[in-house]
Amino acid sequence: MIKKLKIAPSILAANFGVLNDEINKIYEAGADMIHVDVMDGHFVPNLTFGPMVINAINTPLPLDIHLMVHNTLFFIDLFAQCKPLYISFHLENEPHPHKLIQHIHSYGIQAAIALNPHTPLNVLEYIIDELDMILIMSVNPGFGGQKFIPLALKKIDALKKLLIARNLPCLIEVDGGINNENIHSIVNAGADIIVAGSYIFKSPNYKQAIDSLRVEQ
Ligand code: DX5
Ligand code: ZN
Repeated sequence: MIKKLKIAPSILAANFGVLNDEINKIYEAGADMIHVDVMDGHFVPNLTFGPMVINAINTPLPLDIHLMVHNTLFFIDLFAQCKPLYISFHLENEPHPHKLIQHIHSYGIQAAIALNPHTPLNVLEYIIDELDMILIMSVNPGFGGQKFIPLALKKIDALKKLLIARNLPCLIEVDGGINNENIHSIVNAGADIIVAGSYIFKSPNYKQAIDSLRVEQ
């Protein structure tokens, strides 16, 4: 089955002073969903959005919520009210990931696990069947505008092979440092959903930037 590559601009790099205008612009530029980076100042040394800000966003685009937090359960309950398409949470520091996946599904939301650059794939062994998406971090979480870590390619490739071998429909999302130069190798390795923040929002033309990431799978 041929799946179309999806582009999820990360609003972390948007101009927060005119957030709704920025979101309208990426909608018109052809984005597929909006990536929302939720940071709590503990799991990562940065603080971003709460649900009140996200509920104020007015868009037909689905939301892709990436939790980088401690106390994941609390944040799942908080952001479920925003009715996202996906909620991703980090496995590092999380003792009950299986229960959290079930909890996300109980809201009718698709569940994803995010893996930091150092986290091996074998931690997914007994939960991979339950997942709708896996988010491979290609930078250390916390900030936009960092450089892509090339070792992520090896992990994407290995994950793609694993999903094919187990005949699982789970999607691979890649997040961090993505631009028009490294996009080909990321998609060739097996990415289905691309998150890009600074590359899109720092570009003078959002449509051109998004189009330049839509390479053949
Ligand atoms: C990093 C975030 C990313 C980030 C991507 O912690 O999870 O989503 O916003 O931004 P760029 O594309 O600028 O690396
Ligand atoms: Zn993210």
